[in-house]
Amino acid sequence: MAEPRRLLIVYHTQSGNTGRLADAAFAGAQRVQGVETVIKRAFDAGTDDLLACNGLLLGTPENFGYMSGALKDFFDRTYYPCEGKLTGLPYAVFVSAGNDGTGAVREIGRIANGYGWKAVAEALIVRREITPADLERARELGEAMAAGLALGVF
Ligand SMILES: Cc1cc2nc3c(=O)[nH]c(=O)nc-3n(C[C@H](O)[C@H](O)[C@H](O)COP(=O)(O)O)c2cc1C
Repeated sequence: MAEPRRLLIVYHTQSGNTGRLADAAFAGAQRVQGVETVIKRAFDAGTDDLLACNGLLLGTPENFGYMSGALKDFFDRTYYPCEGKLTGLPYAVFVSAGNDGTGAVREIGRIANGYGWKAVAEALIVRREITPADLERARELGEAMAAGLALGVF
């Protein structure tokens, strides 16, 4: 039997909002059979996780117009060990923000370009309070990523 496809969710949360989106994305991915989904906080995730995945979801709060320091640290630690090894890796982003979120998305995109990853979904930005509809959007993002991996469409 073929190895199951693996979706990796890497996120950071300080006050819990991005964590709720991450949990929802994980739950959405679980709706899809044939995909193994691994969820890790950014400080706990590393090169081995990245090299073992077939798709990636990145979650962060927007802090000071940028991604969290924890997610940046994940990139800093994994960039050189993964360089040239993950070209075309499908990825998507979700951000919890007070009132913006675009800076975090833009800068993650620049870094992702450096790795050679391919954005396969529009970034999910949730501003202010997280509503049940936002959580459903996060579930749908996780489900779409997992379904894309299962079907081999990326
Ligand atoms: C130090 C700090 C800086 C922040 N900077 C921004 C910002 O630049 N733009 C924005 O929209 N929200 C900003 N926020 C608000 C957070 O993005 C927002 O509260 C988010 O939901 C926090 O996510 P978390 O609960 O996962 O930590 C900032 C919050 C903190 C604590």
